[in-house]
Amino acid sequence: MNVLIPADTIRERLDALAIQISQAYEGKPPVTVVGILNGCLMFVADLVRRIDLPLRVAFITASSYRGDATTPGKLVIHDGLLPDLKGRHVLLLDDILDTGKTLTRVVSHLIDLGVASVKVGVLLRKIGRQEVPFEPDFIGFTIPDKFVVGYGLDFDDEYRHLPYIGVLEGKE
Ligand code: XMP
Repeated sequence: MNVLIPADTIRERLDALAIQISQAYEGKPPVTVVGILNGCLMFVADLVRRIDLPLRVAFITASSYRGDATTPGKLVIHDGLLPDLKGRHVLLLDDILDTGKTLTRVVSHLIDLGVASVKVGVLLRKIGRQEVPFEPDFIGFTIPDKFVVGYGLDFDDEYRHLPYIGVLEGKE
């Protein structure tokens, strides 16, 4: 495993992102942070603890990668864990923007649910693979086209617990 982003670098970047997000929502009605499971696990948990504003936290599931690192499957969205988001301001958080298909689909799903606004934050934006035009409002790090794991990201549901982002050897 090669470390791409060490844990202390993630922490420093989250401090800065939290300031940016707090400034964007300061004085506005409480935001509902919606994390896309399972990859958002660490990102949501660490980011919301740095935001000193009234907010709600909720989760949605969207999965397309099923064990195979390179071949995406069909995208399936489950919103059964969501509270009523009608008229709410939503900050959607995902681990990584790759082709852009997941976030595009989830954003339109939230709009269909009647949200008042959606902003999007991603921990990682992979360069060179985007297929759908999509511009996140908040970005943690821009990374090269490598398959990364750790800090919530998995390969076949392994490695999520690592405190850093690493590149899996053999997948480079
Ligand atoms: P799209 O292509 O829809 O993909 O933007 C977003 C989802 O794909 C998964 N993904 C990865 N997961 N390492 C991972 O562990 C990666 O390098 C990677 N690239 C994409 C991830 O689930 C993300 O939400």
